[in-house]
Amino acid sequence: MKPKVHTLVVGGTRGIGREVVRHFVRAGHRVSVLGRRTSSEAGVSGHVVDLADKDAVLAALAEAVKHNGRLTNLVFLQRFRGEGDAWQGELEVSLTATKIIIEELAGKFVRPKKAALNSIVIVGSNASRLIAGEQSVGYHAAKAALRQMARYYACSLAPLGLRVNCVTPGIVLKDEARKFYRENEALHALYRRVTPLGRMGSPRDIADAIGFLCSPGAAFITGQEIIVDGGLSLLWQGSLANELTFPKSAG
Ligand SMILES: NC(=O)c1ccc[n+]([C@@H]2O[C@H](COP(=O)([O-])OP(=O)(O)OC[C@H]3O[C@@H](n4cnc5c(N)ncnc54)[C@H](OP(=O)(O)O)[C@@H]3O)[C@@H](O)[C@H]2O)c1
Repeated sequence: MKPKVHTLVVGGTRGIGREVVRHFVRAGHRVSVLGRRTSSEAGVSGHVVDLADKDAVLAALAEAVKHNGRLTNLVFLQRFRGEGDAWQGELEVSLTATKIIIEELAGKFVRPKKAALNSIVIVGSNASRLIAGEQSVGYHAAKAALRQMARYYACSLAPLGLRVNCVTPGIVLKDEARKFYRENEALHALYRRVTPLGRMGSPRDIADAIGFLCSPGAAFITGQEIIVDGGLSLLWQGSLANELTFPKSAG
């Protein structure tokens, strides 16, 4: 019988990460999930860990590989959601934890033959190049560094048969945000209006892009970034201001 593919999802307990976990469970993978709470999804191995605690992270990774075997895919969706200093938190949880995990697991992926299928995906943000006033400077710095980290590892880990890419979501309507957008329908309508593809992103949109990068169809793609935002970040802010002041629909 063909051995099952092992996919480890860091930050897969809620939000977009939970949909990513569901995507790989549906695809029949063995799925390991890291987060501070346990994963509520059936059939996955949850590892409760704070990513700021290096020793605990290394122990959780060893447990995940022991339980589900060598890896084929590794996906990062975590971001800092803690108390205290946001700069230190973002750097530890988003950036340093990603480096520690990639370097610890790089030698623990499945060996050659199908090596080109091995995939690491780092979920980024448009705040890696644009300024999102509602996010901290640490979030911007960590997301910008993650993009370059992906490019670095794409080159240095290629001899091990590992591909490393980024997926960058726009504004995503995740389950946890539904109530907010129901109560603020005007904002939801505005996003629909200003997004070229006419809607907000869904967790499934992001999971599908990640799934593609972890599929044979992406076997020759590495060091790249796929922006999944319905075209919103293509627009010049000046045109947006014009459109909001003089809507085209008004003639
Ligand atoms: N939502 C959006 O609209 C949007 C837009 C652009 C980019 N993104 C990016 O997409 C990714 C997912 O976003 P999201 O909105 O789905 O995030 P989220 O709902 O806040 O989920 C973050 C995940 O990270 C885990 N996590 C956070 N701190 C942790 C820690 N110290 N140790 C272990 N796990 C930790 C959380 O698990 P626990 O709570 O169990 O610890 C959770 O599973 C992020 O990288 C974010 O920057 C999101």
